[in-house]
Amino acid sequence: MLTTDPARADVTGDENALVGVLLDAEGFLSFDEASRRIGVQLPPLAGIIALLEKRGFEIDAHPHLGLRLSRAPDLLLPALLTTGLKTVLIGKRVRHAMLLDSSNSEAERLAVSGEPEGTVVVAERQSAGRGRLGRAWFSPENLGIYLSVILKPPLRADRASFLTLCAAVSVTEAIRNVTGLEAAVKWPNDVILSGKKVCGILTEIETDGGRLDHAILGVGLNANQERGGFPPELYATSLKIELGAAVSRLELARAFLEALEKSYTLLESGDYGGIIDRWLDLSVTVGRRIRATSLDGRVLEGVATGLDENGCLLLRLDGGLTKRVTGGDISLLQ
Ligand code: BTN
Repeated sequence: MLTTDPARADVTGDENALVGVLLDAEGFLSFDEASRRIGVQLPPLAGIIALLEKRGFEIDAHPHLGLRLSRAPDLLLPALLTTGLKTVLIGKRVRHAMLLDSSNSEAERLAVSGEPEGTVVVAERQSAGRGRLGRAWFSPENLGIYLSVILKPPLRADRASFLTLCAAVSVTEAIRNVTGLEAAVKWPNDVILSGKKVCGILTEIETDGGRLDHAILGVGLNANQERGGFPPELYATSLKIELGAAVSRLELARAFLEALEKSYTLLESGDYGGIIDRWLDLSVTVGRRIRATSLDGRVLEGVATGLDENGCLLLRLDGGLTKRVTGGDISLLQ
């Protein structure tokens, strides 16, 4: 990314490495040891520290004791995100950018060039963030979480929507655990709070015959947007609006990746029922009267009764007939 503001340039490998060794040190680390561990000489080390300070890091530099990290900003840098992350697959590798067109597009580019499963791509801002059905995803700098995960699940293509269900469940659990807010899943790809959208999921797949070659699971979570901070046409909210206080994007992203690893393990072992059960527990859709609008504009109304074996929504029409809703949008009526 080209910019004249050093704090908005992409974080370099050296910066990330220094944050990592200072976090590991849990106290002061001598200048010599810090420069040895990240593999740079002392003079450039001073430049790296200066850059990190411009980004909001506070680093104590003591002439005898050395360096100590005393404060880190809420940036989703690999070293910050992976410290304490309890996963073996998801997020073991994190690629971070201050600005991307779309983290899903970047993840797709990486996946086709051989990036391993589990890699997470994070952007602090997106210039062309996208949602389902050709919609744009509002992606202001540092306020939301915009991340995409590269997955290579052993999954039939017609079951790809289980990836979206896994992600929706995982975001909902992360929000509940970190903030205590009563987030809930809304079919097919939303997480809602107080009836408004707080998170959207965009799953994009590449198939090979009837099976998935790889999938990109994209998550957009409104974390710290202010009231009135959304374009007026969006019926959206953020965690900060609902909680009345800013949230740690790092803590949320970590909680999400950990929850995703658990639900993805269910998927890998073929436990689709386990995913559906978890989704039903967290759902505001089932049992509600809904209006479903299909991609070609047809409208059906009825009561949502559950999910079928492919993750499609089951809708009981007023005449008693049950229909499968496979795509499009739904709105909750009562
Ligand atoms: C939707 O609700 O329609 C899905 C929105 C998905 C947005 C996320 S933000 C991170 C990832 N990158 C994108 O361009 N889109 C997804």
